[in-house]
Amino acid sequence: PGEVLGNVFRHYFIKTGEWLLGRQKRKLEHLKLALELSDGVYPSGFSDIFPVHMSAPELNYSDVDTSCLYMGKRLAAPLMINAITGGHPETAWINRELAAAAGQAGIAMAVGSQKAALNDYSVRETFSVAREVNSDGLLLANLGACCTPGEALSAVEMIAADGLQLHLNVPQEIIMPEGDRNFKGVLANISTIINTVSVPVIVKEVGFGMSRETVLALHAAGVRNIDVGGRGGTDFVAIELSRTNKKCFDMEGWGIPTAVSLLEGLSLGLEIDFVASGGLRSSLDMARALAAGAAMTAMAGPFLKSLVEGGAGELEKSIRYLIQGLRKIMLLTGSANIRELSRKPIVITGPTAEWLERRGVS
Ligand code: FNR
Repeated sequence: PGEVLGNVFRHYFIKTGEWLLGRQKRKLEHLKLALELSDGVYPSGFSDIFPVHMSAPELNYSDVDTSCLYMGKRLAAPLMINAITGGHPETAWINRELAAAAGQAGIAMAVGSQKAALNDYSVRETFSVAREVNSDGLLLANLGACCTPGEALSAVEMIAADGLQLHLNVPQEIIMPEGDRNFKGVLANISTIINTVSVPVIVKEVGFGMSRETVLALHAAGVRNIDVGGRGGTDFVAIELSRTNKKCFDMEGWGIPTAVSLLEGLSLGLEIDFVASGGLRSSLDMARALAAGAAMTAMAGPFLKSLVEGGAGELEKSIRYLIQGLRKIMLLTGSANIRELSRKPIVITGPTAEWLERRGVS
């Protein structure tokens, strides 16, 4: 693992700051710190959600079908490798391996923010490599929600994407000394982009979650796909504080746990497909989210760690185990397919139940 890491961050260690552009340097620092730091101490809330055990499921395990249709493509399971990287030459191999593994396993994948490649043609290949090794799979492009419609079009075109993720990451921006400060007009911008690109648009958070007020505002702006990207997993407050060597912890713990965010959003009963992400770490977490009503589940940090620390074989194994585990839990809940799982009873307890109650969510 040390060797692989050494390889990834060769330039980082040797030439820190000497020639790397700010954004490129940041890409490597995010990767390095996401690998070094463990998940935040704040729980995702999924351990408060209990799908109900069915002792006599009347199903044959071999008939349990984990597949789903998502954005027009058939997937082996509702699972996505969420946006991680690209934009620096040393990141191309990561997108290549993630995309190849996603293609082989039949799951979806998003590349990291393509901002760096919009003006610098030399790093386009760090994203397009994903499509080269995964010609038929479901691939999502990624940009910040403040990008221009033209930039959105070019990000989609760069990887022949099946969909576009637009990320909202205000807490991260305001911690970063070089981050954005003006978020005015973002909802109107999202509307314009939805009307400009020909593929579905997912608006996503990056680990701070979405309130139902945000979900309502996004729905009014025309958004029909939301990744709640809640608190409980990769912690960008910790990453940014560590990156900038700041001791100021005034934002520690900020955000909405993923389970709360998902349940708040679903409670609105709107025509929105939700992606559950942020701190999902097991097949059981996937099953909890799907039973609650999520259309898709996604993980970023765990897949990055599997790949960098264990290599492509380990990544392939972790995806396979997640899908196998989901299938077992589907059997245990008496669900022959994902649609049936989404209709099974769940019990919500603990701080998640308390949060929802205090917010008047039923
Ligand atoms: C991310 N994430 C992210 N999201 C995004 O929309 N654009 C991006 O460029 C990135 N970059 C990025 C880099 C690294 C190193 C990590 C680990 C993550 C956020 C990611 O997609 C996801 O929303 C969060 O990581 C929460 O999920 P996990 O990691 O808890 O499963």
